[in-house]
Amino acid sequence: MILVTGGTGYIGSHTVVSMIEQGYEPLIVDNFVNSKPEVLDRIEMITGKRPLFYEADIRDEEKMEQIFTEHEIEAVIHFAGLKAVGESVSIPLEYYDNNINGTLVLLETMKRHNVKKIIFSSSATVYDRFNTMPLTEESKTGNCTNPYGWTKFMIEEIIMDICNADSSWCGVLLRYFNPIGAHESGLLGEDPQGIPNNLMPYICRVAEGRLEKLSVYGDDYPTHDGTGVRDYIHVVDLAEGHIKAIDLVFRSNGAIPVNLGTGTGYSVMDVLNTFMEVNGIDVPYVIAGRRAGDIAECYADPSRAEELLGWKAEFDLKKMCRDSWNFIAKNIKQS
Ligand code: NAD
Ligand code: UFG
Repeated sequence: MILVTGGTGYIGSHTVVSMIEQGYEPLIVDNFVNSKPEVLDRIEMITGKRPLFYEADIRDEEKMEQIFTEHEIEAVIHFAGLKAVGESVSIPLEYYDNNINGTLVLLETMKRHNVKKIIFSSSATVYDRFNTMPLTEESKTGNCTNPYGWTKFMIEEIIMDICNADSSWCGVLLRYFNPIGAHESGLLGEDPQGIPNNLMPYICRVAEGRLEKLSVYGDDYPTHDGTGVRDYIHVVDLAEGHIKAIDLVFRSNGAIPVNLGTGTGYSVMDVLNTFMEVNGIDVPYVIAGRRAGDIAECYADPSRAEELLGWKAEFDLKKMCRDSWNFIAKNIKQS
């Protein structure tokens, strides 16, 4: 059985669906700080199976001990964490407590129960902003610009240290680039609370008519059209990457960082134009100033993932834009 922390969240729920579809038995622990119980119904609607679930905070030592005692857990996929960059600057202690303490409690419980296999949700944010593109796993890390990024950096270090201290541990550190898109059914996806910070959720809000226009943060970057370039990856491709990582974690030792990206960078205007074209919706926008902390471009060299995981992203930007909107359109709230 594989424990999935944060399994009702955006990436976790898609991964749980892929796991069930491929014969794995996920056990989810989530405290719903950024997800809803109905996600469990949706997973059941898609797969025909309801995953085992505990509503718990991963910082709760007693509860974690109970979960590991009641189940034969062989490995952990660790998604649980807070992830809003801007919020992490305003409330750093909550981020360090939730992300780092949560991971420490999880790792201590794993150690007590002799579970030594972990797949961790890391991020391209661990890379130093002054690297040249594309980013390989050997590119420089650190120099993070916000507390959220530091929590990812530190958790990677902690897992590396554990793997150094005991060679029977394996930690696969999956560095995600920019996940967008949704399950094709429209039953799972991302719909953040409040005003979204990220590009695709913001575009969807404007398309819905709940926000007036998109601000394009800067058109004077040294990119093909002057707007920022990122490596967007379909969340279902990302979920498949985790399935391959399960194989890797069971047959390997040590800490293994792996980029999960497509290797192709698209600009803000590429994403916006593709979204409008495939969905037939006009999304008003204005060119605004650069957003503090942003870099011109960020995209992966995904060759290690192909080599070690036998995995490559399959879905293109059109599908990402169609599926993102399909989820929102099917779940539009009356406000
Ligand atoms: P999400 O917020 O949708 O999912 C995280 C889940 O963890 C939520 O369901 C939340 O309720 C749960 N959670 C948080 N703290 C918890 C705690 N203490 N105990 C139990 N459950 C807790 O986020 P996501 O986009 O699915 O991201 C999953 C992971 O991937 C996160 O660790 C995130 O930092 C990382 N990541 C995300 C992105 C991205 O752009 N979405 C990029 C890189 C890395
Ligand atoms: N952008 C806009 N307008 C918006 C929002 C974003 O023009 O309203 C632009 C940004 O300037 C950037 C691009 O769209 O050029 C993507 O921005 P996102 O906020 O969607 O994504 P980031 O690449 O800035 O950050 C994401 C995650 C971080 C993670 C980072 C690296 O949000 O958590 O990728 O993996 F750390």
